[in-house]
Amino acid sequence: MARTKVHFDDVSLYGTPKEEPMPSIPVVSEKVSANFLKSQLQSWFQPTDNRLAMKLFGSRKALVKERIRQKTSGHWVIHPCSSFRFYWDLCMLLLLVANLIILPVAISFFNDDLSTRWIAFNCLSDTIFLIDIVVNFRTGIMQQDNAEQVILDPKLIAKHYLKTWFFLDLISSIPLDYIFLIFNQDFSDSFQILHAGRALRILRLAKLLSLVRLLRLSRLVRYVSQWEEVYFLNMASVFMRIFNLICMMLLIGHWSGCLQFLVPMLQGFPSNSWVSINELQESYWLEQYSWALFKAMSHMLCIGYGRFPPQSLTDMWLTMLSMISGATCYALFLGHATNLIQSLDSSRRQYREKVKQVEEYMAYRKLPRDMRQRITEYFEHRYQGKFFDEECILGELSEKLREDVINYNCRSLVASVPFFANADSNFVSDVVTKLKYEVFQPGDIIIKEGTIGTKMYFIQEGVVDIVMANGEVATSLSDGSYFGEICLLTNARRVASVRAETYCNLFSLSVDHFNCVLDQYPLMRKTMETVAAERLNKIGKNPNIMQQKDEQISNPESNTITAVVNALAAEADDCKDDDMDIKENLLHGSESSFMGPVQTIREGLPRPRSGEFRALFEGNTP
Ligand code: CMP
Repeated sequence: MARTKVHFDDVSLYGTPKEEPMPSIPVVSEKVSANFLKSQLQSWFQPTDNRLAMKLFGSRKALVKERIRQKTSGHWVIHPCSSFRFYWDLCMLLLLVANLIILPVAISFFNDDLSTRWIAFNCLSDTIFLIDIVVNFRTGIMQQDNAEQVILDPKLIAKHYLKTWFFLDLISSIPLDYIFLIFNQDFSDSFQILHAGRALRILRLAKLLSLVRLLRLSRLVRYVSQWEEVYFLNMASVFMRIFNLICMMLLIGHWSGCLQFLVPMLQGFPSNSWVSINELQESYWLEQYSWALFKAMSHMLCIGYGRFPPQSLTDMWLTMLSMISGATCYALFLGHATNLIQSLDSSRRQYREKVKQVEEYMAYRKLPRDMRQRITEYFEHRYQGKFFDEECILGELSEKLREDVINYNCRSLVASVPFFANADSNFVSDVVTKLKYEVFQPGDIIIKEGTIGTKMYFIQEGVVDIVMANGEVATSLSDGSYFGEICLLTNARRVASVRAETYCNLFSLSVDHFNCVLDQYPLMRKTMETVAAERLNKIGKNPNIMQQKDEQISNPESNTITAVVNALAAEADDCKDDDMDIKENLLHGSESSFMGPVQTIREGLPRPRSGEFRALFEGNTP
């Protein structure tokens, strides 16, 4: 056997290494060509870098390993991820669809004689389906519980196939009708007088036997579900499943229609059968088929009778059968389709469910009208019409991915907060991964003077007022500022109250995380302390409570501190200057009165900015 080498193929979509036989020394030209053919065939049976293989093995390296494993097993086994199996499945799929559509029509609507075209079609498809059984005996099996280990041992494959689909495949592939005709003693004699009674009965029985071929539906379901899983993901999979369901419904309608005609035809069209009542016995097959399909669809979709109610007993039973099976399929179809459509927008559905529950809760607790209004507004503002269990989603990710996602989610905050903009990127990353998103409504007291603080806040969007003990507003802070840090730095009580003037989207940092991060970045602590001292000075409190240590600060460090302090000072001044304008613009007429205790909310998504908010929310009010 020729030794193999592995090389990377430039043309391959995933750059997957391909195995190729080493050029063997040409001894005899026939031997060379035989070897070439053999290796070509073997490479066709090997897994290629198609989607199924990449999904199963994950990496090119694993794929190469799998190829080598298959090669060393030394059997003529087709890998389920090989090109051969892919194209074979595709051909089988097309042939199956053709079979399942053509067979019932041919059996029900065409004359009793054995036309050559019909025999040729049947022989060809039967042969291919029999070959498919042989191919299945030589195709590796993907295990459900151990997806990475494909069974390549022919004995195990055969055992598995015999235990599962073999008998169904065999019965649906062997030409029972022809075997029956061949073994019928009288057939050859009666063939000349084809329309004589006995021969006719035999042919009709043969026709019934050929219905067994419809069991091939099981193969169709198998192939389609396998392809669905691998080739259609996410949204495409939902649409593909709905499309499959519709096709399945139409196929069952088609079969039922053919059966509606087949039964009276086998009875020789009695005068009270629906075919005779509609005078369709001698009509063109397409007309007969159309009426039969109409009848089947009426049973299935409308639980109706079609044009006339059944007159004969057989017709009545047939109608009943068709109604029961049709209605069951229709109900299943509706259930599946509803489920699939609902799964398209699960976050919106979850949000609506949450809102519904909250509404019921508010009614149950008989909450006052204005409180209900505030709760509803809070929900609208906080969740924007979509609900995610973000903690759970992020918990499923790897640490690195989680950090990247959180950093990305907080990018607007980082860009707008001068404290972050001038800081070390590691510090920023350390802080943002510990932030908690919170929303406050206009008038909410976020911090109460004199209390013990447990967290500080960064403002993503909104305006807050720093309120002194005498009720005077010392200053206002807006997007990009932070507050609540003095208490954490000094371990004393809050030096002022902080009140939300507009809807505020804040990120909070708990005292433990605050200390943990600042212990690692003493320069950032110093920066904060400098800003805090300035702030205290501004509101007439003693800045010495900051207990500045007399450590030497290097030049670049002092530059950073100055940059942050200046940026914050400029931002605070801007905010004060524009204070009245901002309030006018952002309050939307809301009362900025005290509205009860500070609300803290579970971790969640930063909301889109106010412009996006309105666009997003339009039409989603619960
Ligand atoms: P803390 O004392 O924890 O709680 C009240 C907060 O108001 C305080 O921290 C500061 O963050 C903030 N604050 C107090 N005075 C000013 C000021 N002059 N300018 C900006 N923010 C201030």
